[in-house]
Amino acid sequence: MAENRTAKLEFDGKTLELPILSPSLGPDVIDISKLYAQGGVFTHDPGFTSTSACESTITFIDGNKGELLHRGYPIDQLAEKSHFLEVCYLLLYGELPSVTELEDFELRVTRHTMVHEQMHNFFRGFRRDAHPMATMVGVVGAMSAFYHDSTDISDPWQREVASIRLIAKLPTIAAMAYKYSIGQPFVYPRNDCDYATNFLRMCFAVPAEEYQPDPILSRAMDRIFTLHADHEQNASTSTVRLAGSSGANPFACIAAGIACLWGPAHGGANQACLEMLQEIGTPDRIPEYIARAKDKDDPFRLMGFGHRVYKNFDPRATVMKQSADEVLDLLGIEDNPTLQVAKELERQALDDPYFTEKKLFPNVDFYSGIILEAIGFPTSMFTPIFALSRTVGWVAQWKEMIGDPAGKIGRPRQLYTGATLRDYVDIENR
Ligand code: SDX
Repeated sequence: MAENRTAKLEFDGKTLELPILSPSLGPDVIDISKLYAQGGVFTHDPGFTSTSACESTITFIDGNKGELLHRGYPIDQLAEKSHFLEVCYLLLYGELPSVTELEDFELRVTRHTMVHEQMHNFFRGFRRDAHPMATMVGVVGAMSAFYHDSTDISDPWQREVASIRLIAKLPTIAAMAYKYSIGQPFVYPRNDCDYATNFLRMCFAVPAEEYQPDPILSRAMDRIFTLHADHEQNASTSTVRLAGSSGANPFACIAAGIACLWGPAHGGANQACLEMLQEIGTPDRIPEYIARAKDKDDPFRLMGFGHRVYKNFDPRATVMKQSADEVLDLLGIEDNPTLQVAKELERQALDDPYFTEKKLFPNVDFYSGIILEAIGFPTSMFTPIFALSRTVGWVAQWKEMIGDPAGKIGRPRQLYTGATLRDYVDIENR
């Protein structure tokens, strides 16, 4: 970082010199950590549209260029040339692994994919029609009740074990949530399957017959995991960091991230988007929905469109769109009506000044649901799949924060506009 650059702030007869910190990529930041102590004022930034909350070396996004880098490697290269567990290694440890490092990492993950047998009973406390995200929030939060030996965050080895356990067990828990919701028996993971194939088996195999997914579907599943792995300081990652800053155990922090991701403005958008495309149904109804999305008095928004950071295009959506074509072609699903509506909706929206002027483009959630539906998942499993994919990002960001010796509990302030001091009034005098 360049040294000794400052921003001058003058108000109420005061002049403050605030340090300017220069990143390796992206905009400079003004360090305001001493602002309140020196100037007696807060900054105000609801939604954190202009606020850097932490220093990180994991993921970089350039919203104008539509660029997403994981430890410097662009997402399109990782999606094409790498695979999810190698991307997990990269996110966790900062470098692409050697052959032996990757083999060791994959073996450690593989050997942690089973969950404590007692957890099967835990599921039975839920209604069968519970949304799988509700089940996942509960079961992941309960992991700290089963894995006491990896909850001491001051112990680097326990942090490592908890990280591996979370990455390894989330697919098993997500698959169990799905099986429970459809009344089928749980399927145990197998050590002779790769990560994506294992997940497909645990979701779609039944005791009554053998199951072996088409390798291209496993590859498409693995690519979806990679495209969702991490994304800088998004809402759910920020939730994990804030929960972790209090010293909460890693399982509780990831459960908090899952809860935040569930919202339709965030990870819940993939389910909402497919349901929107299905509701539109045919291309002739698209203008009606575009008009609603543009109507200030209508709360309807195009699900899968827009992004806080990407103001050009979401590079993940580009890869996802290509993958959707491949998967549907493989499955012989010609003229998939949902995909036709999606492509026509994208074309019409990107031809409409409302969307182009507001820089609203398809995001990662716009095409992912089409692939997941084609693979055989119900819409209720779309966000759980996003959650199991993003677990590695949450864990990597959590480890980075916990490992920072300068770290402290996150405690934002506020702009208070409520009642000023007043005395209590007895009820007979009100
Ligand atoms: C994810 O942060 C991340 O990185 C998230 C994520 C990740 O990997 O972690 O990328 C995953 O959450 C992707 C986003 C998924 N959500 C959706 O697809 C839901 C639909 N999108 C919107 O709700 C919205 O675009 C957000 C929430 C994604 C972003 O909202 P912002 O940045 O707060 O933008 P905004 O609400 O201030 O909107 C700016 C303008 C507004 O109009 P004006 O008030 O300026 O007139 O654009 C309009 C909005 O009304 N607008 C939309 C719109 N999104 C924004 N209008 C119609 N349809 C939309 N989808």
